[in-house]
This record gives sequence, C-alpha cells and structure tokens, in this order.
Amino acid sequence: MSPALRIGIVGLGRLGKRHAENLALRVPGAVLVAAASPVAAERTWAEQNLPSISNSLTTYDDLPGLLRHPGLDAVWLVTPTSLHAGQTVLALEAGKHVFCEKPLALETRDCDAVIEAARSRPGQVAMVGFMRRFDPAYAEARRQLREGALGELFHIHCASHDPIDPHGFFVKFAPTSGGIFLDCCIHDLDLVRWMLDGARPLQVSAAGTRRMYPALEACGDIDTGFATITFEGGAVATFHVSRTSHRGYEATMSLNGTRGALSLGRDLTRLPLVTERDGQRCLEGQPDFFARFNDAFLLEARAFVAAVREGLPSPLSLEDAREATRLACALRDALVQPGALPGQA
Ligand code: NAI
Repeated sequence: MSPALRIGIVGLGRLGKRHAENLALRVPGAVLVAAASPVAAERTWAEQNLPSISNSLTTYDDLPGLLRHPGLDAVWLVTPTSLHAGQTVLALEAGKHVFCEKPLALETRDCDAVIEAARSRPGQVAMVGFMRRFDPAYAEARRQLREGALGELFHIHCASHDPIDPHGFFVKFAPTSGGIFLDCCIHDLDLVRWMLDGARPLQVSAAGTRRMYPALEACGDIDTGFATITFEGGAVATFHVSRTSHRGYEATMSLNGTRGALSLGRDLTRLPLVTERDGQRCLEGQPDFFARFNDAFLLEARAFVAAVREGLPSPLSLEDAREATRLACALRDALVQPGALPGQA
C-alpha cells in the first residue's frame, strides 16, 4: 500500500463542498492538501473550514495553479460539466490521478479525447463519479440479478426526481449541464447498462415538457422527461426524470424478470416519522440527493483512493462513462427530432 494520497479538489460549489468535507474527514488514506475555485467566497470558505479538519490546505483560483501544488498526487473535479473533459485531460497530462464528477463530457468526441489521454498513462487512475453504483440498494439489486433471482430481465423502469426549486437553480445550471438527460437521467442510463452487463442499445425515443421552468427553453432543456431504450436481446428500459417533484427528492428503480421483480428507493422519507393531525397523515420526503446518496458519495471516494493506493484498475471505466454520455446525447437528440406518427396530416 502506497502512502496517503495527496488530493486537490477543484470546484467548491453545491457538491464540491460535500466532496471536500468527505476527503478531509472521512476517507482513510486521503489527505486534502489543496482546493481551487474562481469564486473568492468559496476559497474563503475552504480556508476557514477545511484547514481545521485537514491540517494544512492551500487554495488556488484555478486548475493550472492547483496542478503546480508540490507533491500533489490526485485531482478531484467537481466543476461545471462543460469543463470536465478538458480539465481531466489537463490533469492526466500533468501526471495526476483524476476523479471527475459525472458526466465525463457533453459529447462523445470529448470523452474520446479523455480516453486517448488516459490510454498512454496506464499507471494513472481516472474515474467518473457515478456514485449510485456504490449505493447499497442498487448494488444488492445487481447482486440478486447476477445470481439469477429474477430470471431473465426484460424491463427496467427508472425514475429520478428533483424537488421543485423556487430559486431557479436548474435554470442557472442549464447552460453548462447539458440538459436533463445528460445531467440527471445519465445516472439511470449508467445503472441500466450496469444491470444489463453492458448490453448493446438498439433504439431510443424521448419526449418531454417544460411547464414549471419556462426559462429552460433558452437552453433547449425541459423539466420533465420520458425516454425508452430497447436493448439487444429484447430488454426495454424506460425512464422518467423531472425537476418538478412535489414530495422531495426521489430516485427509484423497478426490475422485472421472468421469475421475479424487485424495486428499490421507494417511499424513503427524511426521518422515520409520521405525523397525524386533522385527519391527515404526513411523511416528510427527502430534501435532496445528499440525503439519499450520502453514503454512496463516501463509498465512491474510498473506492477511488483504495484503487490508487493498491494499484487497482479504476472502479468505473472511462468507456462506461463514454457510453452513458453517448446514450444521453441520443436521448437529447431524440427529443428534438422525434419519430413522426405515420399517416398524420
Ligand atoms: P455548482 O455550480 O454549484 O459548482 C460549480 C463550481 O465549480 C463553482 O462553484 C466553482 O467552484 C467551480 N468552477 C466554476 N468555474 C470554474 C472554472 N472555470 N475553473 C475551475 N472551477 C470552476 O455546481 P454543482 O452542483 O456543484 O455541480 C458540479 C458538478 O457536479 C457538475 O458536473 C454536476 O453534474 C455534478 N453533480 C453530480 C451529482 C451527483 O449526483 N453525482 C449531483 C450534483 C452535481
């Protein structure tokens, strides 16, 4: 086992702060030595909050500065999606191991550039953060599937819903996120491929609406999306994704096989508490994805650090990340150019 991994994080926004706290506090074998953000307030947050938990920490205002940090082993990218591919290549070329948040890129050609850069550096680990693969419920579903408990799988239904956001975060996020299929559905696309052992997709369709955030139109994005993918062998995956949930955050999956079915993630609440008053029962939904996937984020971080220190392959291959982007792009494009109904006037 090699010595502790010296990590620098880039991006200290909504999710970056969570990753930074995990790396500083909860990941054995990792030391957070540097943090970068172009936002002064975020650097101040890091200086005030992270050194106390990670001995000493240097802040930078960009990735090139952070890459010059003495003795840095790995870079942890939690930056806008439109920057992921270029920053991953830059960090790989600087000789660093790289963890990059999902999705790897907004176009497959940019994923190819990353794969090319990684190919000539087999000693460096490059991993993309599809953290749901580390969630115990999805992992158990896959284990049962592989054991044959469901027989032959013929249908997977996935649903991922973000709560309604009165502050319009998704509108501000849309110009760099790639839209709902690349930003949100991409988790389910990766999971479906994982459940189906990388089966070959043959056909896709997509539909959507934009009723609650009309401003998404400027980016061609929607707030509610539906999609189907048919795989070689006949299995069908269906998807429902939205930013419009009235009950809080939710990510669910149902698997239907010839011998059994399985569903996960349903009816999870913020607290195991039901209040009853005035003839009503009330269960509080989960506030956001942190509440649901806190453990998964931590487990993925530990898996990355263990892979580097033990000389193991990346826990999540760049090729899988490329395929998730390819499918999400196909859904994005199918939304714009749906198949017309024959015989329609
Ligand atoms: P955010 O907009 O809150 O934060 C982005 C941060 O990136 C900024 O605050 C800043 O620190 C940094 N940044 C911006 N421009 C930069 C530049 N030119 N160079 C270096 N750093 C720069 O976004 P959020 O929600 O934290 O998302 C970041 C990434 O994490 C996205 O790619 C998103 O897809 C991914 N994500 C993944 C989730 C998951 O479930 N795995 C959940 C939420 C986000």
